[in-house]
Amino acid sequence: MRQRIADSLANSPLGRALARRQMQRFGTSAWSAHIVDEFIHGDGGAAYGLGPREKTNLVETFRRITGAVESGTAPIVHTVLARAILAIPPDTPGDLVECGVWHGASACSLSHLARLTGRRLKVCDSFQGLPDDGERLHTGLHTGVYGHYTQGMFKGTLDEVRTNITAHGCIEVCDFVEGWFGDSLGTLHDPVAFAFLDVDLESSTRDCLRALWPRLNDGGYVYADDAGDLDVVKVYFDEPWWQAELGCAAPGFVGSGCGLPLSPSYSAIGYARKVEHFKPEDWKRVPFLHYPEAP
Ligand SMILES: C[S@@+](CC[C@H](N)C(=O)[O-])C[C@H]1O[C@@H](n2cnc3c(N)ncnc32)[C@H](O)[C@@H]1O
Repeated sequence: MRQRIADSLANSPLGRALARRQMQRFGTSAWSAHIVDEFIHGDGGAAYGLGPREKTNLVETFRRITGAVESGTAPIVHTVLARAILAIPPDTPGDLVECGVWHGASACSLSHLARLTGRRLKVCDSFQGLPDDGERLHTGLHTGVYGHYTQGMFKGTLDEVRTNITAHGCIEVCDFVEGWFGDSLGTLHDPVAFAFLDVDLESSTRDCLRALWPRLNDGGYVYADDAGDLDVVKVYFDEPWWQAELGCAAPGFVGSGCGLPLSPSYSAIGYARKVEHFKPEDWKRVPFLHYPEAP
């Protein structure tokens, strides 16, 4: 009974306004709070038995994780990844894969999602930080930021990551894949339901896509937290490379340059989607376009 009252309060306009106020206190903008609100009160996750209460707890868990473990990604990004993962039908096979772990904050959040969806999480990193990038200049055209990465930057050791996931995530669903992506990801053979790349470099992005794209389910998503760096984003549009390396058309990247709209100004998150076979029933029709096959 108490639970039923709590659930109906959480779904009432007052409950939602209180939740939004609470999210704003967590430091997210009103815009981001709206995205969180949509996540909590939308029907995503219903197929996994998750309602507003469980999703509120999940968002709170993301906030706790990023408070406890130094993170390159904010809780709102973890929420966006959660929304995408919970939209995968439960009968779709495949693992969740994270490439680019640092101290393991995003891996902690993804491990909760792996547990809730009955999947494994492949946690992939050198655990030695970034490889040498040859002092390349990186520019964020939209943000106006520039700079260089150095070898070893964003190092989190395997022990450190294991400890953090044990403390804040679900270690029992994780498999650790240690090494440079160009070598290590070739050991993955199972289907991939969803991948998250947070790898900073163009060369690392190519290594990840070369290994993961063939394993990704038709209709599956690769999210990446490097949307602001056009050198990285260009990889997703590099038609000759996709044809030569993967034998398919370049998929493009949604959010190129300024990211998905998680705030009025900028986010670093975007995605590519693998569409091998176009199925009209999975897409929407609009009144202003023409459909020759329509009666
Ligand atoms: C920005 S950090 C990841 C941040 C993390 N996702 C978070 O939210 O806190 C980038 C990570 O990518 C890893 N990395 C980049 N290129 C790599 C490569 N070629 N092979 C293995 N690891 C790589 C680095 O070791 C580092 O841990």
